[in-house]
Amino acid sequence: MKLGNKRLAALPPYPFAEVNKARDEAIRSGVDVIDMGVGNPDMRPDPIISTFLKEALDDQEIQNHRYPPFHGVREFREAIARWYMRRFNVSVDPETEILPLIGSKEGIAKFFLAHLDRDDIAIIASPCYPAYLGAIGISDGSLYEMPLLESNEFRPDLKAIPQDVLEKAKLILINYPNNPTGAVETRELYEDVLNLATMHDLIVISDIAYAELNLEPTYRSISFLEIPGAKERTIEFYSFSKTYSMPGWRLGFAAGDPTLIGNLLKIKTNMDFGVFMAMQRTGARILDAGDGLIEPTRRTYSRRRDVLLGELESTRLRPIKPLATIYVWAAIPPSFSSSMEFSKAVLTRSGVVLAPGSGFGTYGEGYVRISLIEEEARIREAVARMVKSGLI
Ligand SMILES: Cc1ncc(COP(=O)(O)O)c(C=O)c1O
Repeated sequence: MKLGNKRLAALPPYPFAEVNKARDEAIRSGVDVIDMGVGNPDMRPDPIISTFLKEALDDQEIQNHRYPPFHGVREFREAIARWYMRRFNVSVDPETEILPLIGSKEGIAKFFLAHLDRDDIAIIASPCYPAYLGAIGISDGSLYEMPLLESNEFRPDLKAIPQDVLEKAKLILINYPNNPTGAVETRELYEDVLNLATMHDLIVISDIAYAELNLEPTYRSISFLEIPGAKERTIEFYSFSKTYSMPGWRLGFAAGDPTLIGNLLKIKTNMDFGVFMAMQRTGARILDAGDGLIEPTRRTYSRRRDVLLGELESTRLRPIKPLATIYVWAAIPPSFSSSMEFSKAVLTRSGVVLAPGSGFGTYGEGYVRISLIEEEARIREAVARMVKSGLI
């Protein structure tokens, strides 16, 4: 039997496989593991969200059991258009410029599949959400990692991208508020990215999965589509997973240029049937419900962030205060040669799971990502254990 193919062989191994294996072994041997590795919210969705879904399920007018329309339920697309207008003052056409997704991860991977040929370069800001790296493997394209350095507040230096890379590049991907660094965008940066993209005829992928998870009232993220002229070369992805603590429900969407949306739809039409209709109607009601549904979540993450930063203050782990997201990015003590070595030592000696920075790309080395997915008391305990172990 001949197993797999070149595409499969080209796929990078799941970056956290090693740490997860060690975690599972620790759990099996009875360790009370505090898992702050993955970005998997511990909180439950607001009960009203379950009510929305139950009502959609019971609605005899909706033929929930049937295949949904490929381009999504109109009610959901219209609610997305209203959200863009209300939240960013951006007009998107619900007919042609919006596409519901089974979570944004599938949309991003399939978008790469629709656009990258062999030798096409995707410029990806790094460190990054690891699924981008896998999506490049799936799609046959090549990767250029555009460094996000602490010295530049984790924003790219666009002028440093080599000319030959720009010549072969087909798309540029940016993600703010940023996973894993917690860094945020500026309007000037977005303008510069658009100028560069226009000059080199690049597609812009903007991932705003954490757009609503600001941890400070003074900061509100913007959409890339707010930049005049951006829409005609941009596709933007949004996710319900973290904002509403519903990652397992699988709901997201893309918005932007009709041709880019159409290309993604073409791939999806051949691979899936979109999102369960009752879920799309639930999504419409969630978006229309506005900020009230998000505010308690923001407050919880913000408190957890402050607790973690406070506890880490006099340790050798050097956290960078995030203005948004559900993560704290922290520089590891200099005595460790790699983030993997550090994360493994932390797990073995204190039973705490942190995500090694190297899993987020080349420029993640030297850091760990700490997810704020444990309650405050557990966060305190996690730090106390790490301190006691002498590692931080
Ligand atoms: C930056 C970013 N984009 C997209 C996603 C994917 O979210 P989902 O597929 O759950 O919508 C995540 C999940 O962690 C993420 O961090």
